[in-house]
Amino acid sequence: MRKGLSRKNNQGESLNLAIFASGNGSNFAALIKAVREKKIKVKLVVLVCDKPEAFVVKRAQKAKVAVILVKREDFPSRLDFEAAIIQRLKNYKIDLIALAGFMRLLSPDFVKRYRNRIMNIHPSLLPVFKGAQAIRDALSARADSTGVTVHFVDEEIDHGPVILQEKIKIRSKDTLASLEKRIHLLEHKLYPQAIKLFYSGKIKFS
Ligand code: GRF
Repeated sequence: MRKGLSRKNNQGESLNLAIFASGNGSNFAALIKAVREKKIKVKLVVLVCDKPEAFVVKRAQKAKVAVILVKREDFPSRLDFEAAIIQRLKNYKIDLIALAGFMRLLSPDFVKRYRNRIMNIHPSLLPVFKGAQAIRDALSARADSTGVTVHFVDEEIDHGPVILQEKIKIRSKDTLASLEKRIHLLEHKLYPQAIKLFYSGKIKFS
């Protein structure tokens, strides 16, 4: 366990969580609900979003969560884009970053800066079905099952130490919509659980 985090938890303080998202934000909403219902002891302090028109921005505004909007097109390079995020995150004293449908690959420098403090949720049982079409790919492959993975982010896409995984059976009648619905419900259950494992000191880092 990272020394700083266990120390903070021992003092009974809650962690400051940033969520990075680019789209609908159903996981963002599920995490807000978990915080409100005191299922997880974190403060959701900021949303980082690269798409001003994304629905997740509206969700954050409604929930009165601060939003950092950063469009990649406004910066000459990925490093400049990330430097702007890092600079603005400094105001929030972040302990943990949860990626929830953030459609940008983070640079090795960014990953190193927040090593073992960036989680991602992915709609498959990694390492199978990586990438943006994981649910569709599992259906097209006629797989018997798929699932959800929460993992720490490393330098590779959809890769890094697994925190939690849960399997879902694919039914013969499943359509993309029906399978997506079950996967999202499972995501909304697993992400809060993974965050709880993180601050409870139950994850061992090598
Ligand atoms: C989820 O399926 C998540 O696993 C993937 O992106 C999707 C985000 O969905 N990384 P939402 O925006 O939280 O509804």
